[in-house]
Amino acid sequence: MNQVSTSNTSSVILGIGSYVPKKILGNTELSSRVDTSDEWIQSRTGITERRIADNDQSTSDLAFHAARRAIESAQIQVSEIDLVIVATITPDMAFPSTACLLQHRLGLGKVACFDLEAACSGFLYSLDVADAMLSSGRYKCALVIGAEKMSSIMDWEDRTTCVLFGDGAGAAIISKRGYGPKLLGFLSGADGSNPTLLHQPAGGSSQPATEYTIANRQHFLKMNGKEIFKSAVRVMEKATRELLTENDLDIEDVDHVIPHQANVRIVESMAQRLEIPMNKFFCNLDRHGNTSAASIPLALDEAVKKGLFKEDELAVLVAFGAGLTWSATLVRF
Ligand code: ACO
Repeated sequence: MNQVSTSNTSSVILGIGSYVPKKILGNTELSSRVDTSDEWIQSRTGITERRIADNDQSTSDLAFHAARRAIESAQIQVSEIDLVIVATITPDMAFPSTACLLQHRLGLGKVACFDLEAACSGFLYSLDVADAMLSSGRYKCALVIGAEKMSSIMDWEDRTTCVLFGDGAGAAIISKRGYGPKLLGFLSGADGSNPTLLHQPAGGSSQPATEYTIANRQHFLKMNGKEIFKSAVRVMEKATRELLTENDLDIEDVDHVIPHQANVRIVESMAQRLEIPMNKFFCNLDRHGNTSAASIPLALDEAVKKGLFKEDELAVLVAFGAGLTWSATLVRF
């Protein structure tokens, strides 16, 4: 990672890592399962393939590998980690948290562990929360993970959703001490007035699993794609502008944008509205689809490994998701 020394106030990314399952599901193979085509998926979304976890791989398995890579990249001992936050909407089970499962598997101490549910904004929400907890002085080093097995909540008979999502995990080690890209600012928000725009209706306390809910495919993700599309563009533009203003920065100061990787047309619309050229946006959704909470750390890790960021450059990370939620983070490299 580029080396930028930390100030007293900013958290820094000490290390980052990601993991995707081996199995690639291409558009053509998918079109043999549902009534769709490579041409439709590519032209409407920009996606060409996505990774799909094996039946015996759970979200914590994906998270474990990403976490190991982040720890290695940060060159720290696992004993230094005193906080674990896993952002996910596809936990291994309702409880205990995926973070607790990982604590044991990674051989961490008996440190604070919890899952955070903010859908696709989850990783950036988790950075915001981790930074606040580190700022309290009571925690020193956080492992923040975005991990999803979206394939486990896909309705593989619903062509309007199953073509969009993929599985994966990304992780970062965050601390107030040490060297790495600085987290300069955070902004998180939500509008809970229309929760059914994007939701998984059954399996919770309002509709526990019954033969009826299963027969009616209520345990799968449901989405109003058109409305989500419009909201996504609007909230990501607004969050980006507000975060920059709060930090006395302008659109012209932005060198890179790592947007939530849902649909290239959403990214293009956002770029147009912000008047930021598309070549400043990093996208890898063509190969991964929408991996929900894993999307931003997966893209960030890939961009870092490609050497995209030069010293002192400014990146905006911005996401939206079910809720609706949104979150944005400023990173100085
Ligand atoms: N293959 C072929 N045809 C399809 C497919 C498909 N996979 N899916 C839909 N269609 C059809 C529709 O049935 C419709 O047919 P009709 O005109 O005969 O009724 C036609 O294509 C057009 O459908 P639209 O919904 O109008 O297509 P649109 O251009 O809006 O694209 C899409 C749909 C890709 C879902 C888009 O709306 C979108 O990306 N929305 C945002 C989704 C998103 O980002 N979700 C993630 C949120 S993050 C989180 O928290 C998980």
